[in-house]
Amino acid sequence: MKTLVTGGAGFIGSHLTDALIERGDEVTILDNLSTGKLENLESALTGGAVLIEGDITDRAFVEATLEKVRPQTVFHLAAQGEVQRSITEPAFDATVNVVGTINVIEASKAVGIDRFVFASTGGAIYGEGSNLELPASEEITPEPLCQYGLSKFAGEQYLALYRRMYMFNSVSLRFGNVYGPRQSPKGEAGAVAIFGELLMAGQNPTVFGDGTQTRDFVYIDDLIEAILTASRTDVEGQINLGSGEETSILDLLAALHEAGLSLNGSGPPEGTEFNPAFDRGRPGEVKRIAINPGRAARELGWNPTTPLEDGLARTLEAMGTRSGGITHA
Ligand SMILES: NC(=O)c1ccc[n+]([C@@H]2O[C@H](COP(=O)([O-])OP(=O)(O)OC[C@H]3O[C@@H](n4cnc5c(N)ncnc54)[C@H](O)[C@@H]3O)[C@@H](O)[C@H]2O)c1
Repeated sequence: MKTLVTGGAGFIGSHLTDALIERGDEVTILDNLSTGKLENLESALTGGAVLIEGDITDRAFVEATLEKVRPQTVFHLAAQGEVQRSITEPAFDATVNVVGTINVIEASKAVGIDRFVFASTGGAIYGEGSNLELPASEEITPEPLCQYGLSKFAGEQYLALYRRMYMFNSVSLRFGNVYGPRQSPKGEAGAVAIFGELLMAGQNPTVFGDGTQTRDFVYIDDLIEAILTASRTDVEGQINLGSGEETSILDLLAALHEAGLSLNGSGPPEGTEFNPAFDRGRPGEVKRIAINPGRAARELGWNPTTPLEDGLARTLEAMGTRSGGITHA
């Protein structure tokens, strides 16, 4: 099977690429390396994946790439993924997430692909509307509180339109807060990556808000399994991929600290207290979210199986390996 992964050099995209190579696909990655990294692709490139560097906002480039690769399945993960940047630079957010997505959809349609899998968001799409009951199910009308949530919603709606107009076969997967090895601590969204790096360096975290805000954490391996399954079915519309459970940031910090201690010698420096300082809450962030994975269970047979403490321990372990223990100095 020939597959194209946009954003394949990123956190989720690189894990997806590894899994596609593992199942024997011929994989091409389209990425501008803005937040993605070549080092994420070490195993994928060795395994035969091809990286084509370029930007999804460049329509001619996207068309030429699809024309050249002629994939059967397209996984569209390239995006501007930062809530705060979407608020300060809404036009940039829309250019990448709406116009860029249209470019990828149009070029995919032109070469007659079989299946389009879109990385949407469960964390930022629902907002805090009066009809919202947690865990949020796909039937709830999205009322995002930030431009990023809206631009992802627009991507979903374009796909719904292309299904009506052209029978274009797609699915929109609404990811919870995905975490695991390779997630960048440089962005603002990866709470586990950011707090995990601080913990492993023996430093204290800063929490925006009072820490009682909740998120729905899902481990990367579980997510990848769901993405692969969704790509092989004809399930359409929107599907939540999360745990269905709310975890507060304060509970996450405690679980991280615990996971760090479980690593014995390879965890954080001895005596690390990991006491949070608090800063003002940030705009555009919901107070509480968890997304109901019921549809994924029914239609994909998917259930996330990695307990938070195991996923956190694996993530910290990978950070320790990557830094070669330097953080302990
Ligand atoms: N990580 C999460 O918790 C989460 C949650 C919900 C949705 N998502 C979505 O999943 C997808 C992957 O997220 P991630 O966490 O791996 O982020 P990431 O930043 O690690 O990956 C995004 C990739 O897209 C590439 N990219 C960005 N803009 C591009 C452009 N204009 N042209 C070509 N490539 C471009 C980046 O270089 C990077 O490799 C994104 O669409 C994101 O919105 C992620």
